[in-house]
Amino acid sequence: MLTTLYISLAITAVFAGVPNPEDTKRMMDHLSDAEHYRNEHHNKQFDHDAFLGEDQAKTFDQLPPEESKRRLGMIVDEIDSDKDGYVTPVELKDWIRYTQKRYIEEDVERHWKQHNPENTDVVTWEAYRKNVYGFMDEMSPNELKANTEGFTYSNLLKRDRRRWHYADADQDDALNRTEFASFLHPEDHTGMRDVVVLETLEDIDKDKDGKVSLEEYIGDMYKPEEGESVDDEPDWVKQEREQFTGYRDLNKDGFMDEHEVKDWIAPPEFDHAEAEAKHLVFEADSDADEKLTKEEILDKYDLFVGSQATDFGEALARHDEF
Ligand SMILES: *[C@@H]1O[C@H](CO)[C@@H](O)[C@H](O)[C@H]1NC(C)=O
Repeated sequence: MLTTLYISLAITAVFAGVPNPEDTKRMMDHLSDAEHYRNEHHNKQFDHDAFLGEDQAKTFDQLPPEESKRRLGMIVDEIDSDKDGYVTPVELKDWIRYTQKRYIEEDVERHWKQHNPENTDVVTWEAYRKNVYGFMDEMSPNELKANTEGFTYSNLLKRDRRRWHYADADQDDALNRTEFASFLHPEDHTGMRDVVVLETLEDIDKDKDGKVSLEEYIGDMYKPEEGESVDDEPDWVKQEREQFTGYRDLNKDGFMDEHEVKDWIAPPEFDHAEAEAKHLVFEADSDADEKLTKEEILDKYDLFVGSQATDFGEALARHDEF
């Protein structure tokens, strides 16, 4: 998330005013979509997004701790659907599914209206391209090549174009609302798995040799301090190194190829909502009875909803304004 934030601020500075903030935000989200599949347990923002939905998570980030806790208490009452005073992993999983679905539906509705103001059955590629990338038609070749943090609008356009093809089930180069939902939220559609794998690989593969090295894999989740050696790394980073060598790199050639990235981020039977629910219960379950009371959840409110007590929260609040 921090990287995404940094990139979007940098972009706004370079291309002040174009394209519009909503589109810029969505394009930046492109870069982080795949993060839903990785780094889950090292990224607090991921927990907050899963628990609250991305839109609500941003609201909570700006609340003072007391207000954040008060609202969390009300949410806990809602999650406890059988009202027995305990939040079970199943109730939590259902809640996470519900918030995710709600967020995606609202997001698709908003973008669909924006790109299809006449409310026709489909949006053509040309209409979409003009709407989002039309500003590039006015740019000189040098401006088009301007490179911020290793990406350009031309790259984003190419990526959108490819993703559009994957989402376009009947291949008429126009998307109806269902197809548009896959385009916007490929992480939510099994048919889009291959393109999510490609985008993930490209995000991590900094030297663009088409495969992920151990250093690229670690670099994607951890930035060492100045002068820090491998020996000083936190334990979870050391464990990730072992994961890479022992499990991710199946054919032991020192790299993850497309096939291995797919096994990593999108194993067919993996249930993200269930995994996240188990993770949250594990982290907050002080008496280890495998279910959570309201007190246990409020004690760990930072895990579930966060607060503005950090610079990061304030940065996000500012980020939302432009
Ligand atoms: C969109 O098109 C697909 C086929 O490409 C079809 O299965 C789907 O039902 C359509 N959705 C709508 C809302 O028309």
